[in-house]
Amino acid sequence: MMTSIFMENEETPVIGFKDLGLDKITLSAIEKKGFKVPSPIQILAIPRLLGGDANVIARARTGTGKTAAFGLPLVQSLRERNGRLRALILEPTRELAVQTAKEMQSFTEETIPHTTVVYGGASMGEQIRELKRGADIVTGTPGRVKDLIDRGVLDLTHIEYFILDEGDEMLDMGFIEDIEEIFSKANPQSRVLLFSATMPPEILKIAQKFMGEYEIVEEEGVLEEPLLIDQKYWMVRESDKIEALVRLIDISPDFYGLVFTQTKNDADTVSKLLDEKGYEAAALHGDIPQGQREKVLARFRAKKTRILVATDVAARGIDITGLSHVVNYSLPFDASTYVHRIGRTGRAGKAGMAVTFVNPREKRKLRFLQSGVAKASKGDLVQDTVPEIDEVLEEKKVRLFTQLKKDINSEKSLDEYYIKMAEELTAEEKPVEILSKVLSVMYGNTINASHYNKIKPVSEEKDERKSRDVRLKPNQTRLYIQLGKRDGFNAKKIADFLSSMLHIPNHQVDKIDVSSNFSLVNLPKEAAKKVISISKKDKNFPHVHLDSKVENNSLGGGRRNNDDKKLRGKSASDRRRSSEKSSRTQSAKTQKSGKADLYKKKKK
Ligand SMILES: Nc1ncnc2c1ncn2[C@@H]1O[C@H](COP(=O)(O)OP(=O)(O)O)[C@@H](O)[C@H]1O
Ligand SMILES: [Mg+2]
Repeated sequence: MMTSIFMENEETPVIGFKDLGLDKITLSAIEKKGFKVPSPIQILAIPRLLGGDANVIARARTGTGKTAAFGLPLVQSLRERNGRLRALILEPTRELAVQTAKEMQSFTEETIPHTTVVYGGASMGEQIRELKRGADIVTGTPGRVKDLIDRGVLDLTHIEYFILDEGDEMLDMGFIEDIEEIFSKANPQSRVLLFSATMPPEILKIAQKFMGEYEIVEEEGVLEEPLLIDQKYWMVRESDKIEALVRLIDISPDFYGLVFTQTKNDADTVSKLLDEKGYEAAALHGDIPQGQREKVLARFRAKKTRILVATDVAARGIDITGLSHVVNYSLPFDASTYVHRIGRTGRAGKAGMAVTFVNPREKRKLRFLQSGVAKASKGDLVQDTVPEIDEVLEEKKVRLFTQLKKDINSEKSLDEYYIKMAEELTAEEKPVEILSKVLSVMYGNTINASHYNKIKPVSEEKDERKSRDVRLKPNQTRLYIQLGKRDGFNAKKIADFLSSMLHIPNHQVDKIDVSSNFSLVNLPKEAAKKVISISKKDKNFPHVHLDSKVENNSLGGGRRNNDDKKLRGKSASDRRRSSEKSSRTQSAKTQKSGKADLYKKKKK
């Protein structure tokens, strides 16, 4: 039985949505969404919001349906348009703002109320046009909401509802001042609603400041049962995720799992790639016709397919127990989605495992997710590493041996015929040779290192900021040089070495990135040509080539003009700035680092 709070509990009389004062239009929207029974916070909050006009603080764990708890009554009470903005919903992140706007829209089949979403990091123009087209409800992040008020395009003076969603997250993200300012511009008569997963003292302080009198509703008597789930995350680049998934499947004795992707397209791609690698997997998403979906599910339930790749929407409401793994192939947007996803493993007293793939660019999103999960008392996401190929092979070998030994030691008597065969074979060759060949014929396809692809360690990945930072100045070329930390080099030594080698000032060796086996540097084109030709002629010189990952990187056109000089002048201050960040020090004098010295350091 699912432990989800959204499941009907047969022992207690069920309070339905229809008991909460919701009207026909709303009930039909709820049915369409597939919500069967209201969650405890919905039972508590909906009637309170529909009746009366008190300010309300509501606390309930992450993933318990707080959005609908305020959204359903809100949408129902705003069916008439009055030509003004009627409600503001503040959300801590852009994703939540978008998601909440979508939910608001899904709570009615009418065109009114219309919800518009605004958030930072996107063009203002489009959002302003949207607002001008007329919105009844606005959801948004505090920063952008404030900006739009300041520009005079968002007017809160007549709003009837001021809703702070995910209050504790807002505090954590330092939005308090923005919120205060927004609040000061809003209709003082508006009804204030605050929803939060936890209720730290700071929240109550805000409440006192903004809300005057208020009621508190909390889900009560909820046992915070710890999840029996081992939660890990792996840092893995997008392009290595399939390989990581394959290794996870292979190292797990009885993999039976759901793999979550963000998009339908990804679900298709992942299941196809698995298929190509010889794993039977199926995809489940909204574009797959209902009949087909049911078949896919039936096969998965019967464990005929042991890998199901699904989107959140498609996986909602499927009740499948005993999963060994939930894999977050794409990072979920928020803690509530995460908790929902992983809640499908580790049921019925069995420990499950949730593995979340995080690409190196998602470190901030990860931290946000981790704090959300911790707040929902759903344990910790702990970093772990993708198993090495050796480990996977060892695990497979151990499994095979266990099985073989069981078969060898079984009571069943052996057919004479096989004994004769063995005698014939061993008459000609050594048993070890024969057995190893038999094993390789039998298991060469599965227990074989070449079945796996290499995964580059994530630490070698340059982060976004760095790669943007290497943009070439006119007349520069970016080079790869096979000299790295392993050879005893740091940025300064690379600069010293190249400048003395090429007779250029030290500062012309620019944007130096040192990895363990190699370095990347920007050099004036002429100098770059020279070092490449030296490297070609001299076998003992470290290998050098053009860095192909940089746009417009070439050796052509070495003409210098005044503009170039200006730019070079500018670059000196650039460098100063970047040297403040790195440990690299610029020295005006060219240091001698002697060729002989270098050649000693060059690795074989
Ligand atoms: N009564 C319900 N029955 C089934 N699913 C629900 C119900 N109420 C909400 N949900 C779904 O549960 C998920 C989590 O809801 P959400 O409002 O984001 O949680 P919270 O804000 O409390 O963390 C959403 O996908 C939502 O559509
Ligand atoms: Mg929420």
